[in-house]
Amino acid sequence: MADGTQVVQERGELSGRMGTTEGSEGAFIEVDGVEKVFDVRRRKGLLRRERHQVRAVDSISFTVARGEMVGYIGPNGAGKSTTIKMLTGILTPSGGRLRVAGIDPSRERTRLAHRIGVVFGQRTTLWWDLPLIDSYKLMHRMYRIPDARYRENLARLVELLDLGDLLEVPVRQLSLGQRMRGDIAAALLHDPEVLYLDEPTIGLDVVSKTRVREFLRQVNAERATTVLLTTHDLQDIEQVCSRVMVIDHGRLVYDGALAGLHEVGEGERTLVVDLEREFPPVEVPAPARVVRVDGPRQWVAFPASEPAAGLVTRIAERYPLVDLSVREPDIEAVIAQMYAERAGRAPTQSS
Ligand SMILES: Nc1ncnc2c1ncn2[C@@H]1O[C@H](COP(=O)(O)OP(=O)(O)O)[C@@H](O)[C@H]1O
Ligand SMILES: [Mg+2]
Repeated sequence: MADGTQVVQERGELSGRMGTTEGSEGAFIEVDGVEKVFDVRRRKGLLRRERHQVRAVDSISFTVARGEMVGYIGPNGAGKSTTIKMLTGILTPSGGRLRVAGIDPSRERTRLAHRIGVVFGQRTTLWWDLPLIDSYKLMHRMYRIPDARYRENLARLVELLDLGDLLEVPVRQLSLGQRMRGDIAAALLHDPEVLYLDEPTIGLDVVSKTRVREFLRQVNAERATTVLLTTHDLQDIEQVCSRVMVIDHGRLVYDGALAGLHEVGEGERTLVVDLEREFPPVEVPAPARVVRVDGPRQWVAFPASEPAAGLVTRIAERYPLVDLSVREPDIEAVIAQMYAERAGRAPTQSS
């Protein structure tokens, strides 16, 4: 921490005032039976309007300890962004109890803002027409970051995120990957204790994704920054997070190690083979089977628990094999399968 004393004082004041004792082991983020219901009005015909409710987050509970890196995944519309918005105080929960660093986010949003950083992948917090550095200068003032700390953090973030050549470039001229790095730096200038990232790698190329992941690991290692990361990319989780939470239809359906998620959800892998020319579906021993043929390329699904070697040998012996790769199931498939298997059972933390 760049300024440990201040943080300690703030916490002391907190426990005095609110009677909480948020120790280093205690939960830094506490979510207890939290719900968010949206009232939506839909036009039905010319004059008629229909009101209905969307239960975006449905009684979820979890805690995150200081310094943890947690992945938050689920299909589109599952409630991930709504959860993040409640954790930042942008949205007020319809029910349940929420605390971040002992603070009720929607009640004391400004006070909390000094202790959290947020990155929304689909939206920038940077000033579009200004050079990147100007956004940082504005944040320096907005967050009243002490000069020395601002300079130190800026130098460090510019180096780690390789922003040196970009500081004078207007944000609208940055590529998506550059802009994302710029946004992440902006979220960390004031030394937040927790960083929420909502789809920070969406649309990024492989190199940019790798950079962002490396950076997150580094920040966490150096400063014990708590990280909550929503993503569609299972590799983000694999490379960054030790724990993953899965939300579907507003309910938490899994909370645990990524390895456990694989066991629950990962039934099959896919061997993709390129043959010299078109063939009818290759013959493979069950339960492996061809699931798709496209010209000389064929997709063979096989149990994830088995090595691919036997299958590869068998195909190579009988067909003119040119190239191959093995695909892990994508995140949507993992979740879909896991949820299907869990359907009918109570969610992990049902009330
Ligand atoms: N401001 C809003 N008003 C009405 N419905 C909303 C609003 N924000 C989100 N929703 C609905 O809540 C559900 C969860 O959305 P969201 O949290 O954005 O999902 P995710 O981020 O997991 O894709 C969706 O059905 C979405 O349409
Ligand atoms: Mg979202």
